[in-house]
Amino acid sequence: MGRKPKNQSANNAYQKHSKNTQDKNVFHSKVKMISRLRGMRDILPEEYVRWDEVINQARELFKYYGFLETDIPVLESQSLYEKSTGKQTDVVSKEMFTFIDKDGDKVALRPEATPGVVRSYIEHGMFNRTFQPVKLLWIGNLFRREKPQLGRNRQFSQINVEIFGEASAVADAQLIMLGYQFLKELGVTTQVQVNSIGDSLDREEYVKKLIMYFRDRKIRAKLSVDDKKRLMKNPLRVLDSKDEGTQSALEGAPQLIDNINDEARNHFIKVLEYLDEFDIPYILNPFLVRGLDYYNRTVFEFWPMRGANSGQNADSAESVEEAISRQSALGGGGRYDGLVEFMGGRPTPACGFALGIDRIINRMKEENVPMSSAGQPDIFVAQLGEAAKRQAMTFFEELRKKGYKAQQNFVKDSLKAQLEMAHKIGAKLTLIIGQQELVDKTVIIRDMESGMQEVYAFSRVFEEIDKRLK
Ligand code: HAM
Repeated sequence: MGRKPKNQSANNAYQKHSKNTQDKNVFHSKVKMISRLRGMRDILPEEYVRWDEVINQARELFKYYGFLETDIPVLESQSLYEKSTGKQTDVVSKEMFTFIDKDGDKVALRPEATPGVVRSYIEHGMFNRTFQPVKLLWIGNLFRREKPQLGRNRQFSQINVEIFGEASAVADAQLIMLGYQFLKELGVTTQVQVNSIGDSLDREEYVKKLIMYFRDRKIRAKLSVDDKKRLMKNPLRVLDSKDEGTQSALEGAPQLIDNINDEARNHFIKVLEYLDEFDIPYILNPFLVRGLDYYNRTVFEFWPMRGANSGQNADSAESVEEAISRQSALGGGGRYDGLVEFMGGRPTPACGFALGIDRIINRMKEENVPMSSAGQPDIFVAQLGEAAKRQAMTFFEELRKKGYKAQQNFVKDSLKAQLEMAHKIGAKLTLIIGQQELVDKTVIIRDMESGMQEVYAFSRVFEEIDKRLK
């Protein structure tokens, strides 16, 4: 018996492999699927249209105001956050994803961007840059192991801006104005809340007064269990508690704003004067303290308001989802003049804020903000027959290079299916190339609204498209 020809054994091997694959496919449906982790989210393509819109608009606005985009690692040393965000804060003590890597280093997934941006600013000697103040924009994902609920994910995204090297009140006011304006332009109605928490000595003195105030048993009894613990660990956090009992206990409490030094007070007055000049509506919230350790002086947050777009007024019933989402800020920030020096850099005044993209997008949906049509194609290119398909592909590439917004589905051969797709995506025109058009060097232009079709010489087609798309 002679040896099997080589290609025959290859064929057998292929058939065997193919059978295995088929068997696997049969078993596939019985395999338990691995789902995403709790609190992690997928962004599906339809939704990505909004993400694109929000991110593009952020880039456009902040870059116009001189912010330079930067990036920082997802993984940093755990101690970076412990030292800057603060060991006692919820973000670090409860919510950080941490692990020890194979070199024995304690590392953490970034729960916020400010510490990484500050580290990067110091590490790359940005205080030496020609253009001061240094204004940085960062957009990316963050991780906090929170209890997942609407608007609260374990992976979420922020638009984060920071200004390094500017102490004057105009920087604080400009940040507030930019955040407010950005949200307004996206169609999200917001309320700006502002406060000043003074400097660190002011807060030390104030905390003593607050503790004295809560020595009164009757008042202390009104605090929630969690807030009683907070009073021991991080007393200022009691001020922005959402618990009703705690809020009533705070009614007669001393206010931080009445206990700040003159320089900090004058700085804050200037911030408010600028906000008036910029015509930014705001409310003073004496209980706003923010949950991160590094802030001093101005702190602010952007809160969702019952939307003008959704046609609701204060009396109309609010859905449970909306009520929940309105309990979470869309963004927040403030001044942190001591942090750069505290982290090993030169003394550098700084301020910044972050907006939560996930929450902004939820809010846009709740306020019925229409999706942007910016990326929507005007033209669909359809083809009939093998040779026409090749010509259509070349033509499609030409459209792209000339800057037209076009779509195609070259894997479909039926004209009916292609026209259905053109309708679905809302194209205004479909350009059809078949065997006859190939021979005649023409293109059929179909107006998708009227269904009217006309034939044009290839040399005139762009002129006609421009006329119709005007
Ligand atoms: P933050 O208040 O912790 O501040 O976060 C800012 C925004 O991020 C929040 O208002 C919210 O919209 C969004 N966010 C926070 N946690 C979540 C979550 N679990 N799910 C969805 N969205 C969330 C900071 O991060 C500071 N680093 C801001 C800053 C910059 N301060 C000075 N510069």
